[in-house]
Order: sequence, then structure tokens, then C-alpha cells
Amino acid sequence: MSKSMKVAVIGSGYVGLVAAVCFAEIGHEVICIDNDESKVQALQGGDSLIHEEYLTELLDRYRNKAVTFTTNLADATKACDVVFIAVGTPQSETGDADLSYVESVTSEIARSITKYTVLVEKSTVPVYTNEWVTRTLQRNGVKRELFDVVSNPEFLREGTAVSDFLHPDRIVVGSDSKRAADLLEALYLPLTSGEYYNRIDAIGGHCSAAAPPQLLLTSTKSAEIIKHASNAYLAMKISFINSVANLCEATDANVEQVARGIGLDARIGPRFLSPGIGYGGSCFPKDVAAFRSVAEHLGLDFGLLKEVQKVNELQLQRFFAKVRSAMWTLRGKKLAVLGLAFKGGTDDIRDSPAIELVKMLLAEGCVVTAYDPAATTRAKAVLPPSHEMRYAADAYEAASGADALLVLTDWKDFAHLDLDKLGKVMQYPTVVDGRNIFDPEKMAAHGFHYLSIGRPGVYPERIQ
Ligand code: UDX
Repeated sequence: MSKSMKVAVIGSGYVGLVAAVCFAEIGHEVICIDNDESKVQALQGGDSLIHEEYLTELLDRYRNKAVTFTTNLADATKACDVVFIAVGTPQSETGDADLSYVESVTSEIARSITKYTVLVEKSTVPVYTNEWVTRTLQRNGVKRELFDVVSNPEFLREGTAVSDFLHPDRIVVGSDSKRAADLLEALYLPLTSGEYYNRIDAIGGHCSAAAPPQLLLTSTKSAEIIKHASNAYLAMKISFINSVANLCEATDANVEQVARGIGLDARIGPRFLSPGIGYGGSCFPKDVAAFRSVAEHLGLDFGLLKEVQKVNELQLQRFFAKVRSAMWTLRGKKLAVLGLAFKGGTDDIRDSPAIELVKMLLAEGCVVTAYDPAATTRAKAVLPPSHEMRYAADAYEAASGADALLVLTDWKDFAHLDLDKLGKVMQYPTVVDGRNIFDPEKMAAHGFHYLSIGRPGVYPERIQ
């Protein structure tokens, strides 16, 4: 039977908030700390702050009970055995991860350590960060025997973060101290023992009592590298399939068939082989840049990552060129845009290729009407409503009178739109699909001129 522990989580962003409620869900007592008073008040008062499946339910279950929110880092550090650092590590101008938030919370923690405490890096940080955290604590007068620093990277995807946490493919714990490793093992025991999955109210996913997740113990540095290398590898897979898609386009082959054909090889695997307009979000772009920068600082040229980034940038340019070629000229064209979030299932627009593309279209003099099921409020902050930039309440309103419709985010709902209705409200039935959510044959049957990524285009007028 696993034992309840007292856990502090610093940061109430995607990673921190999800980790906080999930630790409560597996039986721990959690204090979530953020220095933003308004965020803390909102969380205490019932706001979830982010759009994430199961988050509202878990917050309703644990808010102000097993999870409390505070700005008081000192008291939380004193009260807990383990302190997770889940603050932002944004990209600096040089591509490096900016670790100033990590450093400032470390200095603050240092002033409050009164008993043995394990500090856990949960944010994505470059290799050697644990050494810097250790040095910072010691510089601030904390005796070495009073703490250990562990790396326990998260592999959460936005939109499915809660189930990713509770049903992980693996739990990586990087620790150079047996005492700290034991503590982390005890913390995750409800998952690794399978106990959690026997609960009738457990959140569903691929793990079960019979097949619980594995906890992988590594050195601290290895764990730090595992996190960067995982994200860089996934980004590489996407850039690879996008390059293959371009080759398919040039040869009239179909990238979906090719992806299926290569993905069936167990050594490659079928996931992360969906071509599109390039990867975005708060992790891949910044983590690929940071990993490359780590290598550079160590005197190594990780040129492969440079190519990954280049392919990703060009992919958006190629899509823009495809839109232009479908429209002939862009100035004054009325374009409907479906999707602004960096991917479906989230309201996050950070580094969203969809937002980038809309900016490019506006710069060319297009009039854009956009619809996104969740990201509109956030999008309005970076693309303020105007005569040229309009927002619609649904996909059909966005498409109304449009010269073409562009699909920029893979929201599942878009695939179920009524194609007859869509075609009727548009000025011209042209669809340029950056996420391959529609079936080309079906689009042809409904009379659309349909272009997608890495699949032959459909031109009804040529067929007639
Ligand atoms: C990612 C990692 O998956 C996760 O493990 C890590 O903890 C954080 O970064 P996330 O940024 O939430 O998660 O999104 P993800 O689902 O990985 O997608 C990232 C980007 O790649 C999106 O823009 C998505 O549209 C794109 N993508 C993904 C593709 O273009 N093709 C694919 O096959 C998969």
C-alpha cells in the first residue's frame, strides 16, 4: 500500500498544474505555488486557467483540499519532503533555454530548507542544470546533506496531459542519490504498482493493474538528456515525414500510404508520421533549439537538428505557396481559416504555425475569417479583430462567402463538417487542407477543388 507524501509543485502552468492535480489523484497532499497572485486567486476560486481534458474534474475534486494554491514558496518548502520545479524555461534570443526562473526559485528555496528536501527538475532543462541547482543551493548556504537534486522530466502532451501523466509510457527518474531515488519511487508507487488502475474512479488510459508503467532509473544527466532527445527525435520524425510528403507531391504518390507502409515496421512505429504545416507549440521549437545549443556549447555540431528546424520552417512557406497557387493572387481574397491552435484539442497558440500563416496572409492583403473551437480568445490577443481579421462562431460562418477555406489545425470536429453545407456557403469550393483531415475522394464527390499535404490534388473541373 503506497503512502501519502507532501509534495510542493512550483509553477501553475501546463506542467505544474497537471502534475499538482495528478499527484493529488494518486493520493498525495500537494501545495501548488505560483508567484502570480491573480493566477493563485483564480485557481482557488474555481478557474481551471487552461483547456485540458479531465483538469476541471480533478480540480473540482481536489481544489483547496488535497491541492492548495499559494504564493508562499517558503512555507511550502518547509512543509514538504519533495519540491518540484515546474516553472517556464523559455527560449532566449540565442536559442538557449532561459533558466532565470529556475535560478530564482532555487535561491528562494535555499532560504527555506530546514530539513532534508529533494528538489526535482520537472521543467525541460539542459544537461548540467542539476549541477547549477546544486551549486546555487550551496552558494546560498544550504548544507549538502540537506538536499538532493533529481531530474524527473515530463512527457505530457497538451490536450491529453492528465491521461499522459496517469498513463505514462515510462517514468524517468534521474538521480545520483539512492535516498532521493527511493523517495521518487515511493511517490510514483501508486502508478508503478498498478494500485491506481484498480480504483473504480481511475481516469482511463492504456496502463492497467496488469500492465503498469515502468519507472526507469538513470543518472541525473541522462534524464536531462532523455527529455531533450525525446522531443528532438519526435520533431525529427515530423520533419522527416513532411519531407517525404513533399516528395510524394512531386511524384503524385500518397504520403498516407507511404506513412502506413513505413510505420508498420516496428522499428519505426506509426505515430508522429502525420504530415502537415510543421510542428509548433511550446515545446518542440524551443527544445530543438535548446538541444542544438547544448551541443554547440559542448563543441559538437548536431547538424541534423538544424535540418529538422529548416524543414519545419520551409514547410509553412510551402503551404503558403500552395495557397497562393490555388488562388492565383492573394490580395483582397476572402479566406476562411479553420483552426488557430498549434494542434487540435488545446487552446494554446504558442508558436502556432496557424497563427504564423494567418499573419503571412494578412501581410499579403487577404481578408481572413477564422474559427477555432477553443483558441479564439487567445488568438485575439495576437491577431486583434479588424476589417481584415475576423472571427466566426462556427466553421460555416467562417466559410460563408469565402474564396477558399484553409484547414490549419487538426481539430477532430472539422473532419465531421457537413460538406454539402460547407460547399454551398462558400463563394468558390476550394479547400487547402494543411492537416489532411478530409478524404480526397469524398471532397471530389462533393465538388471541391481540394489540395492537401503529400497527396494528389483533386480538381473537379478537370474531371468534368
Ligand atoms: C510535445 C511532446 O509530444 C510531449 O511529449 C512533450 O512533453 C511536450 O511536447 P505537445 O507540444 O503538447 O507535446 O504536442 P504534440 O502532440 O507532440 O505536437 C507537437 C506539434 O507537432 C504540433 O504542432 C502538432 O500538430 C505537430 N505534429 C505532431 C505533426 O505535425 N505531426 C505529427 O505526426 C505529430
